Amino acid sequence: MAMSDQKCFHICTPLHESLPLSKVAGTTVYIKLDNVQPTGSYKIRGIGHFCQKVWDDANERALKLSENDGWVYVSPFNHPWVWEGHASVVKELWEALQNKPGAIILSVGGGGLLCGVVEGLKKVGWCDVPIIAMETKGAESLNAAVKAGKLVTLPDITSVAKTLGAKTVCEMALQNALEHNVLSEVISDQEAVQAVERFLDDERFLVEPACGASLAAIYSGVIQRLQKERWLAQDLQSIVVIVCGGSSITMAQLNEYKTQLGES
Ligand SMILES: Cc1ncc(COP(=O)(O)O)c(C=O)c1O
Repeated sequence: MAMSDQKCFHICTPLHESLPLSKVAGTTVYIKLDNVQPTGSYKIRGIGHFCQKVWDDANERALKLSENDGWVYVSPFNHPWVWEGHASVVKELWEALQNKPGAIILSVGGGGLLCGVVEGLKKVGWCDVPIIAMETKGAESLNAAVKAGKLVTLPDITSVAKTLGAKTVCEMALQNALEHNVLSEVISDQEAVQAVERFLDDERFLVEPACGASLAAIYSGVIQRLQKERWLAQDLQSIVVIVCGGSSITMAQLNEYKTQLGES
C-alpha cells in the first residue's frame, strides 16, 4: 500500500525557521518539530507505519496473545517498515521547502531515523543532501562502526542520552553511513545537555538529551567546523535540524543531568 493511501498515526509537524539558531549557525536554520508528535517524538512515524501495514494481522494476533500472555517484538529501529515510516519526515520537508536544504541534522541511536531519512532523500531526489549524524560520547555506536568500517558493539552505554543507547547500530545504518554523504559527529553529554537548556530558552521546547545531540551541532559550532574543514559547503542556503523530541524529560531530570555533569 502506498504511504499516501494510509491513515497515519503520526501528524505532519511544523517546520519553523528558528531565528536564534540561525543567528548561531550564520545561515537559515529550519527546525522540524517532531517533538510535537502525539507521542512526543518522531518514533511514531516508523513504529506506526510498521503496525499499520499489518494492522489486521497484528490486531488478530494481539487479541490471541492477550489470551495467551505472549509478546510481539517490534524493533524500534531495525526494520524496513520502520525506515519507510520515518522517511515521511523528508517528504514533509520536500513539500514545505522551496529549495533543498544544505544539510540535515539528526540524532542516531540504533540508526532507524538515519535509515528513514536516507530512504526519504532517495525518494524525493535529494540524494546529495549531506546528513550530519549526531551521537553523544558513550553512545557513539555509529561513529565507532564508521571508523572501523564494520559493526562495533560498545561495551556499555555511559552517556546520559540513554535513548541513543543502542550498543550496536543496525547494519543498514552503517551501510547508509558509508554509501550516503553522512558526517558522523560525536559531542559530549555536557554539550547535549547545554543544547537542551539553550533550546528551552530559545524556542521554549523541552527535549531529551538525545535530541540535544542534534541541537548541539548548531550550538557547539560543529557546523562551522565542518565548513572550515570543507566537509560542508561554505554557502549553505539552509540547514534542517530534526527536533526528534523524546518524552522522557522533565525540568527535575534536566537539573539532575546538570548536577551529574557538574553544570550547576
Ligand atoms: C529522542 C530520540 N532521538 C533519536 C533517537 C535515535 O533513534 P534511532 O537512531 O534508533 O532511530 C531516539 C531513540 O530512541 C530518541 O528517543
